[in-house]
Amino acid sequence: MISYTGKSIIELNVNGQTASVMIQPSDTLLYVLREKLYLTGAKPGCENGDCGTCTVLVDGWPIKSCLMLAVEAVGHEILTVEGLKYAPVQRAFVEQWGFQCGYCTSGFLMVCHSLSQIHPDANDFVIEQWLQSNLCRCTGYAEIKDAVKSILEGNIKENKP
Ligand code: FES
Ligand code: FES
Repeated sequence: MISYTGKSIIELNVNGQTASVMIQPSDTLLYVLREKLYLTGAKPGCENGDCGTCTVLVDGWPIKSCLMLAVEAVGHEILTVEGLKYAPVQRAFVEQWGFQCGYCTSGFLMVCHSLSQIHPDANDFVIEQWLQSNLCRCTGYAEIKDAVKSILEGNIKENKP
């Protein structure tokens, strides 16, 4: 059995900036984002691909960062919730009461932001399909769906401080 215990330096494109990080081959993207780059918006939940709290975007698509090795992310554009800045989805969640404890929220924000970019004409069925990737234990999913619809319907175009 081959044991990969060495460390390597890789470059990751995160939120539009290049970061050099020393990793082990087995480090997940979630671990590197949180523990090496101190971007703690992506949350560890199940760390098994089920809950979606760790969701980030890779080349615009939602990815569960607990299931992706950091080395696999080399050469791709990674967007975390810290990089959303003033995206409309954030204001939509506030206005539609799309969160309570907030632990799931960064993951949902990334899924909903991606959905609004990739499927700006999504109907209820498509929205519900996308929201199935993430779990929330306290807010009703109806509020999160309402937040998505408010963006798609053009009610929130920008989110200025
Ligand atoms: S922590 Fe990644 S899916 Fe739950
Ligand atoms: S707002 Fe608490 S788990 Fe979703």
